[in-house]
Amino acid sequence: MEINVRKGDLGGEECDVLIVGEFQSEKKLELSGDTEVLNEELEGQLKSAAEEQGFLGKPGEMVFLRTQGMITPKRVLLVGLGKIEDLTTEVVRVVAAQAFNSIKRFKIKSVATSLHGEDIEDLNVRDLARATVEGVLLSKYEFAQYKKPTKFSIQSFDLILSNGRAASAARKGVEEGELYAAGTMFTRDLVNTPPNHMAPEDLVNVAKDLSKGKSTIKVRVFEKERLERMGAGGILSVAQASKHAPYLVHMTYTPKASTRKSVAIVGKGVTFDSGGLSLKPPGSMTTMKCDMAGAATVLGLFSVIDELAPRTVVHGIFAAVENMPSGDALRPGDVIKMMNKKTVEVLNTDAEGRLILADALVYAEKQKPDSILDLATLTGACVVALGEEITGVMSSDPVLANKVLVAASNAGEKMWELPLEKNYKKLLKSDIADVKNIGGRYGGALTAGLFLQEFVEKTPWAHLDIAGPNFAERVINAYNPKGATGHGVRTLIEFLKK
Ligand code: BES
Ligand code: ZN
Ligand code: ZN
Repeated sequence: MEINVRKGDLGGEECDVLIVGEFQSEKKLELSGDTEVLNEELEGQLKSAAEEQGFLGKPGEMVFLRTQGMITPKRVLLVGLGKIEDLTTEVVRVVAAQAFNSIKRFKIKSVATSLHGEDIEDLNVRDLARATVEGVLLSKYEFAQYKKPTKFSIQSFDLILSNGRAASAARKGVEEGELYAAGTMFTRDLVNTPPNHMAPEDLVNVAKDLSKGKSTIKVRVFEKERLERMGAGGILSVAQASKHAPYLVHMTYTPKASTRKSVAIVGKGVTFDSGGLSLKPPGSMTTMKCDMAGAATVLGLFSVIDELAPRTVVHGIFAAVENMPSGDALRPGDVIKMMNKKTVEVLNTDAEGRLILADALVYAEKQKPDSILDLATLTGACVVALGEEITGVMSSDPVLANKVLVAASNAGEKMWELPLEKNYKKLLKSDIADVKNIGGRYGGALTAGLFLQEFVEKTPWAHLDIAGPNFAERVINAYNPKGATGHGVRTLIEFLKK
C-alpha cells in the first residue's frame, strides 16, 4: 500500500473512501471546517445521516455514506475525534486505526483522509502524520504464516492537507510512521512465531540476516564453548536441559559519521519458558513463546536502524535460550557462578530471565557504553502491579529514567516508573551464596529489578519489564490486535532519535 501526501480539496479527491473527522459536540451535532464544506457539497446529507445515527463525534463513532456522484469520493467515512481539548497524537493513532479497521475488508482500492488535528496549534503536522500512518499500518497487521491471509485490496492511502506549506513536514512524518511501524511489525512476527519454529538458533539467524549487505551492522555470536570460557553460568545453566544450545548475540551499529556516544540495549530471549523444573501450570505456559520479546524488540530496532541512522553507536545484545525440564535440568537449590563471578542460589528455575540477563548485562557493561537499557518479559508481578498495558521502568539513574519515559510518551507506549528500593535488597540474601534468584511473596517486579542491579556496576542503566504489554491476550486497542504487540520498539527508536 502506497502512502502519499498532498494538498487538496476533499470533495474533489478521486478515491473509493474519504475519511474525515469531527470533534465532539456538546448536545446537538455541529459540523466544523472541512466536514461543513463537505456537507454543503452533499446538500446536507452528511449531517442528516450523522444525526439519524446519533453521531456526536465521540471517539469510536462512525458514519458511512455513499455519495451518489455528488462529490468525487465514492464514499465518505465520518469518524468521531472526541473532545477537541483531549486530542493527542495517540487519539489520532487510534482513530486512524478504527477507521481503517472498518474498511480494510472492503474490495476498494483507494483511501484518502484529512489529517486530523492539522489545525490545532499544540500538535505538529509531522507527529500527526506519523501517528496516522502508524495507526493504519499497525491495524492492518496480521500474522498469517500458518493460515490463509485475509484478502486486502487497498493500494493507496492519501493524506490530504488543507495547508500546502505543511506538506514536507507531513511527508517526514509519513516516512517515520512507516519506519516505526515496520520495526514494530518485525518484532510482532518474531514473537508470534510458534516456539517450535523460533528456537535460540533461529534468533541468531535473524540477527545474522539483519547484518547482511549492511556495512553499519556487525554481528558476533558467542556459542556454548565460548560462553563456558567466559563464565556465563546464568545463560548456560538455564539452557542446560534444552536440546537447543544457548547463544549470546552482540550486534553493533556504527554510524557513518564518527561519534563517541554509545548505548547498549539488552534483551531477554527465552524462546520458550516452561518454567524448567519449577514447571509452570499449563494455563501459564500457553503464551510463553512471548518470552523472547525483549530480544525480538532489540531485533525490531535493528531491522530499521540503518534507515533511522542514529548518531550514536548502538550495541544490541541478547541471550537466547530455551527453559526446559529434563534429567539434566537446573535444580531448585543449585548454586551457579555468573560472568562477574558472583554466585547465585537458584531457588526457582522459573525465575530464569534474570539469570540470563545478568550475564548479558555484565557483557554489555564491558563494552563501556554511556548507558544500558534492558527489555525483558521478566515478571508476572509487574503485570499484577501495572496491568496488561503498562511497562514497568526501573532505573539506577533518574536522568536516564526520565529520557525513557519521555521517549515512551512521545511514542504512544505506556510506561511507568517503579522504585529500586534499597531496603528490599535484603529479600535477595542467600544463606549460602552472594544472592538468591527470588525475593519474597511481595514486590516481585522490584526484587527482579534489584537482582539485575547486582550485575551492573556503574553505568547508568534502565530496566524495562515488558511482561504485560508485549503480548495481548485480548484486543488492547484498534492498532494492537491479539498476540504480539511489538511494544517497546517505538520507544527505543524515539530514545535513539534524541
Ligand atoms: N517469563 C516469566 C514472566 C512472564 C509472566 C512473562 C507473564 C509474561 C507474562 C518469567 O520467567 C517468570 O516465570 N517469572 C516468575 C518469577 C517468579 C518465579 C519469582 C513469575 O513472574 O512468576
Ligand atoms: Zn520463568
Ligand atoms: Zn521467563
